[in-house]
Amino acid sequence: MSRKILIAGNWKMNKTASEAGELARAIVAQIATLSAIDVLMCPPFTSIPKVSEIVGTSNVRLGAQNVSDKVSGAYTGEVSAAMLRDLYVSYVIIGHSERRSYYGETDAFINKKLLTCLDSNLIPILCVGETLEEREAGKVEEVIRTQLVGGLAGVPADKAETIVIAYEPVWAIGTGKTATPEQAQEVHAFIRKTISEILGTEPASKIRILYGGSMKPANADELLAKPDIDGGLIGGAALKADDFLALVKSGVKAQA
Ligand code: PGA
Repeated sequence: MSRKILIAGNWKMNKTASEAGELARAIVAQIATLSAIDVLMCPPFTSIPKVSEIVGTSNVRLGAQNVSDKVSGAYTGEVSAAMLRDLYVSYVIIGHSERRSYYGETDAFINKKLLTCLDSNLIPILCVGETLEEREAGKVEEVIRTQLVGGLAGVPADKAETIVIAYEPVWAIGTGKTATPEQAQEVHAFIRKTISEILGTEPASKIRILYGGSMKPANADELLAKPDIDGGLIGGAALKADDFLALVKSGVKAQA
């Protein structure tokens, strides 16, 4: 496969800085020189300096869970792309369903953040996905097309292929219910086709599409075996070093 698998941990609002340090150390100790796939940890903002130190010059990458759409200035409570870059952050999760539903983030707002990331050479991981209601109403493709068209508006051609998409069916996040590999592959293929309409076939063939939603060691191999599933965005199972390392192993196996 020409696309490099990405296994990304989304720690959400878990771990104090010292707890995060412990988890990061346990992970980095095992895979510091791994180069077959990309591995990413996304701790909360407050743990980024600590995890950044631990990641150091290893091959493990550091991500953030959010970023301001603004460059700098009087925006109380916000964290800018430059602040993240300064701490060696290289990826940012954008438009997670929890931010869409609990904090009212719209496709237009998410798009601003995505363009800010690209401008600052941060790799955005744009999350898309339908709710159970939308799936039951037969609206999966409509919902995802709208999120992609809105989220990817105005992407400069020379940056398009660096973007990462995460398909996270909302009904599978943190619920223990995983999409079947077939259900996930069907949506991933639709996402790739839609991206090729928006950004062109060349970037669409290079963009990595991650699956997220109760991914764990027990179901990762089957999901990662699908042709359009290029990795995982992992919540719960990323909080335990052993589980996360098992997922990394599944990634390496799928890449081979
Ligand atoms: P989960 O979360 O693995 O706990 O379902 C995934 C995510 O929301 O990124």
